[in-house]
Order: sequence, then C-alpha cells, then structure tokens
Amino acid sequence: MVQEILASIQNPHILPTPPMGFNNWARFMCDLNETLFTDTADAMSSNGLLAAGYKRINLDDCWMNYQREENGSLAWNTTKFPRGLPWLGEYVKSKGFTFGIYEDAGNLTCGGYPGSLGYEEMDAKTFASWGIDYLKLDGCNVFPEHGRTLQEKYQSLYGTWHDILSRMDHPLIFSESAPAYFADPKNFTDWYTVMGWVPHFGELARHSVDILVYSGAGSAWDSIMTNYQFNTLVARYQRPGYYNDPDFLIPDHPGLSMDEKRSQFALWASFSAPLIISAHIPDLSGDDISFLTHRALIEVDQDPLAQQATLASRDGEVDVLTRSLADGSRLVTVLNRGSGTADRRISLDILGLSSGCVYSAVDLWDGSTRSVEGYVDVRLNTHATAVYKLSVPGECSTVVPTGMIFNTASGKCLTASTGVEFRTCGGERRQVWSVTPSGAVYALSDTSRCLSVHGGSATLQPCDGGVRQMWSYGITGNLKNVESGLCLTEGSGVGDCAYELNSQVFGLPGGVLIVG
Ligand code: GLA
Repeated sequence: MVQEILASIQNPHILPTPPMGFNNWARFMCDLNETLFTDTADAMSSNGLLAAGYKRINLDDCWMNYQREENGSLAWNTTKFPRGLPWLGEYVKSKGFTFGIYEDAGNLTCGGYPGSLGYEEMDAKTFASWGIDYLKLDGCNVFPEHGRTLQEKYQSLYGTWHDILSRMDHPLIFSESAPAYFADPKNFTDWYTVMGWVPHFGELARHSVDILVYSGAGSAWDSIMTNYQFNTLVARYQRPGYYNDPDFLIPDHPGLSMDEKRSQFALWASFSAPLIISAHIPDLSGDDISFLTHRALIEVDQDPLAQQATLASRDGEVDVLTRSLADGSRLVTVLNRGSGTADRRISLDILGLSSGCVYSAVDLWDGSTRSVEGYVDVRLNTHATAVYKLSVPGECSTVVPTGMIFNTASGKCLTASTGVEFRTCGGERRQVWSVTPSGAVYALSDTSRCLSVHGGSATLQPCDGGVRQMWSYGITGNLKNVESGLCLTEGSGVGDCAYELNSQVFGLPGGVLIVG
C-alpha cells in the first residue's frame, strides 16, 4: 500500500500555531558561531523570552564547510562550531529549546555553501541525526531545466523535500522560501502558483523579500511596511498548520523607533505570523523584552484559529485590519502608516459587527477596558499600532465577513458607484464590502444593492438573493459569479476566468468561505 503523505494543512498538528524563536540572519548574517547561540539561549532562558514561547533556536546560512565530506554529507565549520552542531543542539535542548537549521534547494546556498540538490535524502537524515527538527529551505541557485519552467522546477524540488520529510519518523518543520523567488510585482501569476502549493508541502513560507538586515542600507521601517504589505496579499492561503512568513522581527535595528518596533510585533501577531526574532538577544533592552513577551498579543499570534487579519479599510495613512479569535471575539488592529498623529473613528460595521450592540473593548497594549457602541475612536502616533479585542455579547455574536475587496496586484479597491469600478483605496464606505454566507456581496454605502452580473458586465442591482448575485471565492483569489461562471476582472468588470491572471486575483475579508 502506498503510504499516504500528509503534512502542513492536511496535518495541522505538525505545527498547530506559528513558530516562535530566534534566527541569526537579519542581525548577524554570516557572522555566526557557537558562542552566539549559547549566549542567545542563555539570555532567552533568563530574560523571559523562552517562557513567553520563543522556543526555537534556528541557524541560518554560513554554518557549513564549503565542501561536503568524502561520503557526500554536509559538515559544519569547525572554527565557528568547535564542539559541533550535535553538541550545540544538545545544549539548547537542555535549556528547553528546539534546534533548527538552514539549507538551500539548489546547487549552492545564497551565501555560496553547498546546496542540497541531489543530496536531499542524505541531508535530511544528517539533520535528523544532529537533533534538528526545523528546516528553512532557501531557493537560491535553482535553475530551470529542459522541459520544465523555473516554477515547475521549484515545485518538484520542494515536493521532493516534502516527501522525504513527511516520511520521517519525526517530520521536520518545513519552512519554504520558494515563493520569495517569484514575488515580482510586474506579474504575480507564478507567485500565486507557488503560494498555492507551499501550504501542501510545508508549515510556513517566506513569501517575499528579505527584511532589512542590521547593516543594510535603507529604512528599516520601509522594509517592515513592504513585508507587511506583501502579507496582506496572501491571507487566503493561511490556515491552521500553514503560516505566511513576512520574515524576522528586528527589534534591535538601530533605525527603528519604539513605536515602530512595537508596530511590527503587533502586526505580525495580528497576522498569526511566525515570530522569529533576529537580534542580539543579550543586549535587548527591558522595554524590548517587555513588548516581545506581551502575553495578550502572543495569545493573539498563537490563537488556534490562526486566522490572518485582513484589511477592513485603508486610507492614505491608516489601515484597519480585523479577524476573529477562537473565543468568539473580534480583533481590530489599527496602523498609522502616516508621518503625523492620526485620529480615526472606526465604525464597528466595517469589522463585520453589528452597529446596534454594545461591545467590551480591551486595549491589548495596556489592558484597559471600555464599552463601545457603534464605533471605536483611536489616536495613534506616527507609525504606531493599536490592537483592541472586542468581546461579542451572545445576541450579537454573528460576524459578517466585511472589509476591502482589492486587487492584490494593483492594490486598487472595488468601489461602489453607479456601477462598480476599481479605485485607489481611500477608506470610504463604498469600498467596504460584506460577503454573506450565500455569497452575496454589497457595499456598506448602500446595503440594498448587490454585486451582480448583468448584460455581461459587473453591476450593482437591488439585492434579490438570486444566483446572478452569488459569488464564490477561490484559493486562486478569483471571485467567480455562480450563475455566469465569469470572474470579476479589474478593468473590464467581468471576464472569462483565466489562470491566476493579475486582473482577476483579489483579497477578500477573512472569514469568507474559500473553495479549492
Ligand atoms: C536569503 C534568505 C535570507 C537568508 C539568506 C542567507 O536571502 O531570504 O533569509 O536566509 O538568504 O544567505
């Protein structure tokens, strides 16, 4: 009998909530050695990070020799790791951590060390024998071959690794960097394709560009915003067992203000993203440790639903994101991207809540509680992020998935006017849409008119519950009209559904049923 191979989303218990821990890359790059990791483990076990859940110590690139051994196996650099990786693994495990490593699917790692191509079985066994339970598999130096596109080549290599890892007695957590090699905003078709298969092969995927390294030129905040933005494009793929990875937390980056570091943490937690810190842990300040160990936000990150917060609205400065939590409450996360203080009144109906109910709102940063009805008022410093948890009284517990419907390639928002069109997102109610369980779609600016296909184009018609007003949302990002089978299309309203076409891929509010 063929052994059924299950991992990630088919077997969420491999990694039921996103990973938390340490990785050296963004802070130290290739400047890594045994002492860095023992000092990091010692500091994390005494400063509260381990107790807060950061239990993974992961090595990144440059840990190995430039040559494989005679028998083909990988070897660690004995100058950097004089007592060896099995010893280091035992050391971190004796403190309560688990041990992770980095390799590459191609000929060479990004740093020029031996890649795993052709050595997959051997390397997997080597890692397991060293006590490693987590593999970040990068995708530098992968090339197309005859008869296969580059995308197909990645799929076959990551598929090979998936098969090997999932046949092991103790499957390693599999972090896949493949999508990062396809995140080309000029054309996302291959990127969407790769994002479609990574959840079947592994537990997390680096979907886009690297977060700025410590010594890198440029703005660390801009880098955080870039990765944040990419993450908002791929919410539909995440579910328990598979997590979108917007890359490391960089709390000791010298270019960041305290509000900016706290924002990165709050946003990543709202996404249920991996929380992998890349910093010099022994030198983190008390304030840094305090926000990194914030219990209420870590509980959000580790919430069993693993629902990624999605955009309820976006204007020129402020993003409002929302999601559900396993206890039935609703999270609202408000980010001020702008360069001044921002004041906003956020209507509860854009969060999918009823405007006629009284909710208890906890400010997760300071724990203060207040009753809210109809709206929440928020004041934010530049680049700060607020997070509220709204408890829903029983009679008001129904949440209608509500928020922006936006093209994930152009970033433009579906906008209700006399018909529908795509415009720059401005936070207006005509750009906030509710999606009912039967697939009807209407804007908050006029809840009596539903998105319809009429005369071969997308229009708004009085809601009548008919199939021409029903839409299904695919894992492909397509919004497909049930009656006509046509897909919503930026530019032409609706059109024949094509394969992962930029103009037909949309981000929808979380909680909408996803098919495929
Ligand atoms: C790539 C990855 C980084 C890091 C480096 C190591 O750039 O995206 O996270 O692993 O390689 O060389």
